[in-house]
Amino acid sequence: MHTVVQIPGDGIGPEVSKATRQIVEATGVNIRWVMADAGAQVLKETGELVAESTYQAIATHGVVLKGPITTPIGTGFRSVNVSLRQKYDLFANIRPIRSLDARAPAIDFIIFRENTEDLYAGREIKISDDEVHAIKVITRGASTRIAKAGFDYARANGRKTVTAVHKANIMKLADGLFLEAFRAVAASYPEIATNEVIVDNMCMQLVMRPDAYDVIVTENLYGDILSDLGAGLIGGLGLVPSANIGTTCAIFEAVHGSAPDIAGKGMANPIALTLSAALMLDHLGEQDAAKAIRESVEAVMRDKSVLTPDLGGKGNTDSLTRALIAGLH
Ligand code: NAI
Repeated sequence: MHTVVQIPGDGIGPEVSKATRQIVEATGVNIRWVMADAGAQVLKETGELVAESTYQAIATHGVVLKGPITTPIGTGFRSVNVSLRQKYDLFANIRPIRSLDARAPAIDFIIFRENTEDLYAGREIKISDDEVHAIKVITRGASTRIAKAGFDYARANGRKTVTAVHKANIMKLADGLFLEAFRAVAASYPEIATNEVIVDNMCMQLVMRPDAYDVIVTENLYGDILSDLGAGLIGGLGLVPSANIGTTCAIFEAVHGSAPDIAGKGMANPIALTLSAALMLDHLGEQDAAKAIRESVEAVMRDKSVLTPDLGGKGNTDSLTRALIAGLH
C-alpha cells in the first residue's frame, strides 16, 4: 500500500483532482490518500495559501499529487508552486512532451528543467523608482544535479541524445557556468550523444523539427517557456504532465494553472493531471498501472464525442473520465 498526499487546489483543481483519483483507483493500485488543503479557500480562512497541516503531510509522506493553485496578483504572495519547490528542494522539474494522437507527427521529448534558482530565486532589488534589478542565480551544484538527472534518465530509458539549452553567448558567466557543469556531467555518459543549442534557436527548432529532440536539460526560465511551447505542439496545456523531484519528496502536477475562465463548468480536461498521476505511479514502482493509464489516454484521444472542448471535443470532464476508466486494461 502506498500513501499519497492529494492537494486538490482551486479553480479547476478540485474537478480534475477528483477525476484523476477515480482513474487511479480504477487501475486497482492500493493507495491511501491523505487529503491536504492549499489555495484560495485556505487563504480566505487563514490568511495563508498553504495550511500548516499540508506542509506536515508533505514532509511525512513525501509523495504528492497536486492540483493547480491560483497565485493572487498584486498582494505580495509568492507563487505556492515556486515556494514548495524551494522549500522541499524539488530540484528537477520533469516535463514529458509526447504527441498522443497517433495521426500527428511523432513528438517525444522530455524537458529536465532546473527548478530552484535562475530568475526564480526571487532576488529583485529596487534601485530607484525607475530602475529594478532581477538577479539571475546559477550555481555549479544545481546545474550539475539537473544535468545528472537528465543523463540518468537517458541512460535508464534508452534515450540517445541530451541537449543543453542555454544563452551563454550573452550571459557568458551565468549560462557559461551552466554549460561547464553540463559538459563535466556528460563526460561520465560516453554512450549518450550531446548537443548544445541557444534558447532562441531552440524555440524555432522545436517548432520546425520537434521529432529531432530527445532529452533536453535547461535552466529554470528557459525550461518554463520551452514546456509551454511543447504543450502547444501536442494539443495544449490540458495534455502536459510534470514531476517535481527532490531528494526526499516528489510532487506531481499538471503544467497548466487553475483556469479560472472554465472553473466550475464541468469542462476541464483531466488528462494532464491523470498523466501526472502516471508519472507518480512510475515513481512508486507501479509501472503496469502507469502504462494502462497512458494506453487508455491514447485510445480515448481518437473519440471526439467524449473529449473536452479544449481538445475540440463535444464532451465534458465526466464523459472523458468515464471513457478513461473504461479504457483501462
Ligand atoms: P491556465 O493554465 O490556468 O489557463 C490557460 C488557458 O488554458 C485557459 O484558457 C484555460 O481555460 C486553459 N486550460 C488550462 N488547463 C486546462 C484544462 N485542464 N482543461 C481545459 N482548459 C485548460 O493559465 P493562467 O490563466 O495563466 O493561470 C491561472 C492561474 O493559475 C494563475 O493564478 C496562475 O498563477 C496559476 N497557475 C498555477 C499553476 C500551478 O498551480 N501549478 C501553474 C500555472 C499557473
